[in-house]
Amino acid sequence: MAEGKDSSMRLWIGRVATVVGVAALVLFAGLGGSCLARWMREQPNSFSASAEPWGKLAANLEGWGKPDLTLVLTGEQHGYILPCGCSRPQVGGLERRQNFLKVLRSRGWAVAALDVGDIPQKGGPVNLGNEQGLIKYRYSMAALKEMGFHAVGFGAYEAGMGLFKVLGEYALNEPKPRVLSANLKDAADLYPEQTAPWEKVVVEGQPWKVGVTSVTGPKVAGAIQDKQVRFTPAADALKKVSAEMDAAGVELRVLLYQGYYTKAAPGQEPREVEALAKAFPEFQVILALSEEDEPSSQPVRIAQPGGGETVVVRVGHKGKHLGVLGLWKGKTLTQPTSKYALVQMSEDYLTPEGQEAENPVALLMERYTRELERDKYLERHPQVNHPFQAAEPESTPRYVGSDKCERCHQSAYKTWKESGHSHAYQTLVDAKNPSRRQFDPECIVCHTVGYGYKGGFLSQEKSANLVNVGCESCHGPGSEHLKNTGDATWHALMNPWKAKEGETADQKKARTLKADQFCQTCHDMDNDVTWTNDGFARKWPKVAHPTPEAEKNR
Ligand code: HEC
Ligand code: HEC
Ligand code: HEC
Ligand code: HEC
Repeated sequence: MAEGKDSSMRLWIGRVATVVGVAALVLFAGLGGSCLARWMREQPNSFSASAEPWGKLAANLEGWGKPDLTLVLTGEQHGYILPCGCSRPQVGGLERRQNFLKVLRSRGWAVAALDVGDIPQKGGPVNLGNEQGLIKYRYSMAALKEMGFHAVGFGAYEAGMGLFKVLGEYALNEPKPRVLSANLKDAADLYPEQTAPWEKVVVEGQPWKVGVTSVTGPKVAGAIQDKQVRFTPAADALKKVSAEMDAAGVELRVLLYQGYYTKAAPGQEPREVEALAKAFPEFQVILALSEEDEPSSQPVRIAQPGGGETVVVRVGHKGKHLGVLGLWKGKTLTQPTSKYALVQMSEDYLTPEGQEAENPVALLMERYTRELERDKYLERHPQVNHPFQAAEPESTPRYVGSDKCERCHQSAYKTWKESGHSHAYQTLVDAKNPSRRQFDPECIVCHTVGYGYKGGFLSQEKSANLVNVGCESCHGPGSEHLKNTGDATWHALMNPWKAKEGETADQKKARTLKADQFCQTCHDMDNDVTWTNDGFARKWPKVAHPTPEAEKNR
């Protein structure tokens, strides 16, 4: 699952440049005066380079030289705003993205940052619903604004939460970064002023007039259920936008494409991205969606008959990587040459210790957790039936807390008490950058007993006995077992991993796998990156608690 970690803040106000003038004048000399003036007014995000380069460049960018313009391309973040810090090394997160952009800008690179959309999540970790989808979307957009992103698309992830709500959460009040769609039907009526068909991208100190648009392809459009979110054919919309870009003298065109690249087999008609690239050769760059989490390290380059090429970039899921496309003036402005690097948001881009207050995104994350506490998000997630509660409605099993089990299961209790599970809540209390993680349901769900189930953890005040990963996190609510400790039905329910007598090797394997999979409801690939290579075999011995002979038949 999840998201994550990091800290505090100071806005970039001091660093935001005042250097709009000269460069922009040269840039847009081709435009009419009033148009130019407007173009310049629309530009809030100008970042100046500091004298000293900050941080180190990614290894795959070393030796590039300075591009005339650099496109930083992102997307499909799926709600992963920050690594949770559960294990190391985790990759991704908006704070590191901010640091990476700072590295580029500190070297005086002209940067345009664009995002294809699918920024929010479809649901919370484990079985949590999407109570935090909107607030995380809002903070993500605010973070993109701080980072100087110019425009973003949207896709099935945004539409899945209700596009009306999503746009109302941010774009209604904030024009930057601009939410783009050229083929959203009736956009001006349904979502007035909240989206635009295309946008000029103003970046000082580089030679192009840049324009960006976004369209939704048929596959994504078909997957969106919302009747208020309908699309006109992408090609029709692009034709119109392209004519407008011609009129505005745009030389470098970027298409954010909500759809996939599939290479047509010989004899087949090109589809989606390939078809658009061929029909609209004037778009030099297309940022498309990825089929997989881990993207290809190289873009697809589609040669155009008139010379030049269209570069198709995909950056994978969860914001683990971003695409960096360096552009140099070619023979003509409309046919630039380019280099591409896929950069992993690794720990190389962690905020240096003590500099958290200088990372505006880190400060936003701190505000995010504060808002979760203030608005009592812990109480917002509905409590559903635990499988025991659903199966045994008559007896309504309840959570009782680990301390109730100690009396009869002393050795199990001792093992547990000495394990990490018994202080999992304190871990959240102690967390820094951001702090207050004990108020974040998306952390609490794996660090306490029964959160999200009836009678499960709600808050330190209301359910102090259910802090930490307790006996009932694994064995389920224990009240019925306590009422009748000899009841074999409850023994079986509470220990589905118990070995049958005379177990065969195959049965043992299947049983072990079942336990392994259960652990991975929390120790999943996002949160516990160390569970790989038979993590269960290594980790179970650390928490195993077989009943000693002496404790049996009490
Ligand atoms: C899907 C379950 C899950 C969620 C959600 C989750 N965690 Fe964890 N967390 C774990 C597991 C499992 C571990 C232990 C990892 C290991 O074994 O190395 C852990 C460990 C940690 C640790 C390290 C503890 C230590 O001392 O080594 C921190 C810190 C932490 N989590 C913070 C968070 C925060 C903050 C959040 C919310 C953003 C969060 N966790 C959400 C499952 C989760
Ligand atoms: C009053 C004593 C008592 C208390 C309190 C108690 N148990 Fe038990 N428990 C037993 C007895 C007796 C058995 C059956 C013999 C055995 O396996 O030790 C048992 C068995 C179990 C088993 C194993 C079932 C099996 O067949 O493998 C689990 C799991 C278990 N208890 C969990 C808990 C949990 C969790 C709690 C606290 C919520 C708890 N027990 C509290 C007495 C108790
Ligand atoms: C309800 C969620 C949850 C489940 C289920 C769970 N764990 Fe954990 N586990 C955690 C959390 C959270 C931590 C981190 C505790 C902390 O804050 O230090 C953790 C820590 C650990 C640790 C100590 C850290 C380490 O990597 O050495 C071990 C070992 C471990 N778990 C093993 C297991 C095993 C084995 C299972 C399955 C039988 C399991 N866990 C099931 C949440 C869970
Ligand atoms: C991280 C998950 C986890 C936690 C936490 C946990 N257990 Fe277990 N427990 C298991 C698993 C898995 C088994 C089955 C192991 C087996 O039978 O091989 C088990 C088995 C047992 C058994 C049967 C042991 C036997 O020899 O038959 C008892 C009793 C028990 N647990 C009690 C407890 C009590 C009491 C606590 C809290 C103090 C606790 N467990 C905490 C996962 C957990």
